[in-house]
Amino acid sequence: MKKIVRMAGMLLAFAFASCSQQPQTLSIIPVPLKAELQGGAFVVNEQTQVWIDAPEADKNILQEYLASSSLKLAVATEAPASNAIVLKQVAELPGVASAEGYVLTATKKGVEIQAKTGAGLFYGVQTLLQMAADGNKVALGTITDEPRFEYRGMMLDVSRHFYGLDFVKKQIDAMAYYKLNRLHIHLTDAAGWRIEIKKYPRLTNFAAWRTGKDWKEWWNGDRKYVEEGSEDAVGGYFTQDQCREIVEYAKQHYITVIPEIEMPSHSEEVTTAYPELSCTHVPYKQADFCVGNEKTFEFLENVLLEVMEIFPSEYIHVGGDEASKQSWKTCPLCQARMKKEGLKDVDELQSYLITRMEKFLNKHGRNLLGWDEILEGGLAPNATVMSWRGTEGGLKAIESGHRAIMSPGEFCYFDSYQDAPHTQPEAIGGYLPLSKVYSYNPIPETFTPEQAALMYGVQANLWAEYIPTKEHMEYMIYPRILALSEVAWSAVANKNYDEFHGRALKAIDDLRAKGYNTFDLKNEVGNRPGADKPVENLGIGKKVTYAEGTKYYSGYTAGGDDALVNGIRGGWTYGDKLWQGFLKGVDVTIDLEKETPIKEVNADFMQICGPGVFMPKEVIVSVSNDGKEFTELAKIEHQVVKDDEVTFKTFGWTGETTARYVRYQASHDNNFGGFLFVDEIVIK
Ligand code: ACM
Repeated sequence: MKKIVRMAGMLLAFAFASCSQQPQTLSIIPVPLKAELQGGAFVVNEQTQVWIDAPEADKNILQEYLASSSLKLAVATEAPASNAIVLKQVAELPGVASAEGYVLTATKKGVEIQAKTGAGLFYGVQTLLQMAADGNKVALGTITDEPRFEYRGMMLDVSRHFYGLDFVKKQIDAMAYYKLNRLHIHLTDAAGWRIEIKKYPRLTNFAAWRTGKDWKEWWNGDRKYVEEGSEDAVGGYFTQDQCREIVEYAKQHYITVIPEIEMPSHSEEVTTAYPELSCTHVPYKQADFCVGNEKTFEFLENVLLEVMEIFPSEYIHVGGDEASKQSWKTCPLCQARMKKEGLKDVDELQSYLITRMEKFLNKHGRNLLGWDEILEGGLAPNATVMSWRGTEGGLKAIESGHRAIMSPGEFCYFDSYQDAPHTQPEAIGGYLPLSKVYSYNPIPETFTPEQAALMYGVQANLWAEYIPTKEHMEYMIYPRILALSEVAWSAVANKNYDEFHGRALKAIDDLRAKGYNTFDLKNEVGNRPGADKPVENLGIGKKVTYAEGTKYYSGYTAGGDDALVNGIRGGWTYGDKLWQGFLKGVDVTIDLEKETPIKEVNADFMQICGPGVFMPKEVIVSVSNDGKEFTELAKIEHQVVKDDEVTFKTFGWTGETTARYVRYQASHDNNFGGFLFVDEIVIK
């Protein structure tokens, strides 16, 4: 019986009747646009040959790729009549708009992949390889597929911890397999400069080497750089030849490498190696370049000239994030520049730098890409924004007619915990499970088609502060990058997390067999109990009053006044919009509306010291029947201890009483200050 299923997402859950020639399921990531399958399969065997009809350059890439793939296919000397994999570049491909799309047709005689470009053929090949992963069997029928977004990226931070050439190539292999096409390499940052620049040898014989065996030890220690070859030197860099090798290897996988050279900030390593490029000329003092000094522009342009010589990408990423801008306020050269150029503040001074760098890049036929801070002080005319502090920056850029690439922390920062923190190696914080990555849709419903067209794509960012080994790096990437690939490639209507989860489990087995270290999805713990399902209690829906001057902080409202009595507990991160954040202690009273028997009052707090989130020093629970006179039920003293753990703790009272009003107070330890984050106040 012929089965036609329009939405491949639905199809993938379908189990074929058991038969030696038939695959059990079609398990492709990212899920293709459309699959029309019949029963049965074409089986690739040792006699199967490849025939490629495409321009020479693509033909060579595809031939070599297929020969070294798991199918190890030999190339035919003339067009084979049967038992063949045929790749054909065509001028027109009905039903496929994107240059990267393809149509794969499998019959009893073989497989034909048609596409308008080499990239399209390459993606058809990835689908073929994923289908054939199950006993070399390719399900009969037609797959018509194309990406949702043109830009499908992953960023590797090689500054905080340096991983060499082979590691990068290995990740390129997997990126290609899951149809990602942009590798953004964060080459420069305080923790080490990672690209050879011939004109500035101190960048690699000094600024690429640091004390401290890992980033954390160094950051919490002396934060010093050392000469290359010193006994305690940790770090490294890519030579220009190695960078070219990465570019070439990526090209063979239809991936563009985008280099990032940070400016004006995250540049302590440069301003220490070349102190005259900072406002004070004092090493180890400023992370920002001096924007008033022409020498800064001379340096940056010279660096970019060498970078452009190596990386042929349309985009050069210039960073632009998290500049302090403090030294610019008193630096005579910066002040003179601001006066001369009529710049009203230091944001405009940053914009001056970015705009000037954009002109330079444009003059050399390239475009500028930067983090969303490049919007501050005015966006350079042709710039593309990479939105990381939420989605607002990207949306704002698009509203003003610029392209945007979305990599918001909430969905795309793979340095966050991917499961319950106590089950995971130390991470920077946060909580980004596979399901959350998968849930991301970069295009808001309110967008017009013109705005949607400016949404260039999405990117996962893997910052490496807390990731000291290659194995750990992979652990953070896989399988979350598979979810990102489906966000980037697949039609929204085809997405279904439960069904994707099954495919991801299979993909993890495949990745492990190929030598990748992955998170153990099969044994995922999931979110904190109570974060997804309400915790029944007497306070739900009751009125909460905040004592004067103790209202929650505007950035962490958890939805407002009813957050502490909505039944939902906070999850594994204070940033999940479920925890309420307090800067001046907690003092709330819940009105149960009538005198009620009470056996328990408690609330959870979380601590993660890095961003200044601490446990309370003292908690008081009291009750009242008139809302004026309160009787103290419990006073809990707690010693706050600063550590590297993410911890959760319940503070409360159990006993027997009756009352109408319940008051819950918690105070800060003034030695630490910071935030108190509290979730549901549970009354039973
Ligand atoms: C960033 O995470 N600072 C771009």
